[in-house]
Amino acid sequence: MQEDNNTSALEEQLYYIGECKKFLEKKTKEIGRPLYACVHTFGCQMNARDSEKLLGVLKEIGYLETEDEDKSDFVIYNTCTVRENANLKVYGRLGHLKNVKRKNPHMLIAMCGCMMQEPDVVEKIRDSYKFVDIVFGTFNIYAMAKLIYNRITSGSQVIDIWEKTKDIVEELPTERKFPFKSGVNIMYGCNNFCTYCIVPYVRGREISREPKDIIMEIERLVKDGVKEVMLLGQNVDSYGKTLDNPVSFAQLLREIDKIEGLERIRFMTPHPKDIEEETLEVIRDSKKICNHIHFPLQSGSSRLLKLMNRKYTKEHYLEQVEMIRRILPDVSITTDIIVGFPGETEEDFEDTIDVVKKAKFDSAYTFIYSKRTGTPAARMENQVPEDVVKDRFNRLLATVNEVSHEHIRRYEGMDMKVLVEGKDDHEEGFVTGRMTNNILVHFAGDESLIGQIVTVHLDECKGFYYMGRLIED
Ligand code: SAH
Ligand code: SF4
Ligand code: F3S
Repeated sequence: MQEDNNTSALEEQLYYIGECKKFLEKKTKEIGRPLYACVHTFGCQMNARDSEKLLGVLKEIGYLETEDEDKSDFVIYNTCTVRENANLKVYGRLGHLKNVKRKNPHMLIAMCGCMMQEPDVVEKIRDSYKFVDIVFGTFNIYAMAKLIYNRITSGSQVIDIWEKTKDIVEELPTERKFPFKSGVNIMYGCNNFCTYCIVPYVRGREISREPKDIIMEIERLVKDGVKEVMLLGQNVDSYGKTLDNPVSFAQLLREIDKIEGLERIRFMTPHPKDIEEETLEVIRDSKKICNHIHFPLQSGSSRLLKLMNRKYTKEHYLEQVEMIRRILPDVSITTDIIVGFPGETEEDFEDTIDVVKKAKFDSAYTFIYSKRTGTPAARMENQVPEDVVKDRFNRLLATVNEVSHEHIRRYEGMDMKVLVEGKDDHEEGFVTGRMTNNILVHFAGDESLIGQIVTVHLDECKGFYYMGRLIED
């Protein structure tokens, strides 16, 4: 039944892609030049992967890809709402887009993603941003072609937001940003309801994909030149628990590990409350699964962790880190930390600093708590004053830098396998690559190396990255 729904939903989209294509061909002839589309992504890896799907459909329709909004005939913002400043960025840029559209009568502007799942945002766009042509959310990403068609034929603003997923439609064309690596969704949504977090509200309940679909997708990607996949889920450790035939994350990893031609496997994000020894053993026994665990702490205070609904204590988190290091002695552990959660005291904050020192993170993403309307934390009293939060944030950053720089240095002098990802932004004649521990290294080399896995000698640690030199194998 599910399959039939998916098949007909897919066929419907293919039909609308065809219709839009005809429209675009006509338009191109009419104005005597090709039409350009720009997909702008905010937020996390999930959004980045969704954007590849959007761009795939836009190219199929006939748009040429550009990164320059000012010369685009179709601009889509794939938005994030995890923190307030993510929203502010979007509104800021929309103002500019309005002016671009004034000069280009063929231009269409679309907005989708997590921010669009918030009713007050959609209301604001409907009322105050009438020049936005198409609005849709996280659950109907795959239906963009139909919405473009509706916009073209109706001539008026199209808004289509769903409360949840009806179908998962995966087989539409996608256009990868990197030919050699790709994100792969293994599950959608989140059931954890951490009290500060908007994600469960905008991404819905957890749904795992069937292992065979995931494996088929990865096999196709490998045939298409992909060497590294990043398995994506908000809490990968709960993968597969609700499938008709339940499968654990460890089992899934084992199956993916067998895929021939695939060279590297990453995943994001495990949850400290759920990570299992078996998963770590699969990583230890695999040559492909990368030596890196992103392990979000959020706070080091057991009292705050409880208020955050994270379901682990400071001690438990540290025990889990110990278990990880026991099974994977050389692993790189990174984390996310929030400062200024409601009611955070100096003592709570010191617990966070203590965990940073004890866990020895290779790096940490640090965030100032952002009040998200609709989440339980937004209604909590004792929101921490801004100056106190700023001061703590700076102290945390200083500690993270100190600890990480000291710890990351341990690889100095080693020869490491590196997947070359692109030209170095800062130095001509240099390229940048990623080790399996996720740390970046810059070294002299030319563009022909991009997409290859090479051996690099790590000459010098520069804080969060290395300078190295290519070793001939
Ligand atoms: N599923 C992942 C996180 C996804 S959101 C996990 O459970 O770890 C990415 C990060 O954004 C979170 O780890 C958290 O540190 C941060 N974050 C989420 N909501 C936030 C908020 N309201 N204010 C500040 N940071 C937040
Ligand atoms: Fe948000 Fe928590 Fe779910 Fe992560 S696990 S997405 S922080 S609710
Ligand atoms: Fe990701 Fe932001 Fe949505 S972090 S899931 S894009 S709210």
